[in-house]
Amino acid sequence: MKSNDVLKEFKAKNIIIPKELIPWMRSNHAGETGAVWIYKGAKCVFWSKKIYQMALNHEKSEIKHLIIMQHLVGDSERSKLLILWKIMGFLLGFFPSLLGHKTFCITINAVETFVRKHYEEQINYLTGNERYSALLYVLQKCCFDEIAHQKDAEKQIAGLKFSSIARIWFSIVEFGSAVAVKVAKKI
Ligand SMILES: [Fe+2]
Ligand SMILES: [Fe+2]
Repeated sequence: MKSNDVLKEFKAKNIIIPKELIPWMRSNHAGETGAVWIYKGAKCVFWSKKIYQMALNHEKSEIKHLIIMQHLVGDSERSKLLILWKIMGFLLGFFPSLLGHKTFCITINAVETFVRKHYEEQINYLTGNERYSALLYVLQKCCFDEIAHQKDAEKQIAGLKFSSIARIWFSIVEFGSAVAVKVAKKI
């Protein structure tokens, strides 16, 4: 995937980041790093075709998102804990996948539900501000992909019965993602 093509596709070349959004952008960069690693982890469970195929599809857009965030968030502004986000992402992709397709989909649905809300907050903040319309476009485009990921995972588990453990797991993943974002905004 060529970075230049991705930047063009997202119209992300000349973008101004408002100062107050730098912590948010840092968490976006950290989050997209984690997302790429979630799907890397899931792809290790290559014997499940369903998991592998979905991970491969989603990973393609996460790589694009990461290219965008790497372009928008300079080295000095990035999270100092990237190695941690990579490891956590990998584990979050790998272990649920080992347990099977349903657990993988519940996990992805939870993560993407959180990411969607995270982008929507920023989109709401920027909406109506002409000066940042280019950034708004990028975030909307990323968010659009996350919604597709969320729906894709949801569709696969629609109609299935959920144990209370599954419900608790969904909340843990959402809560864990929220904590990670809080930390990544600061460090
Ligand atoms: Fe993403
Ligand atoms: Fe995603």
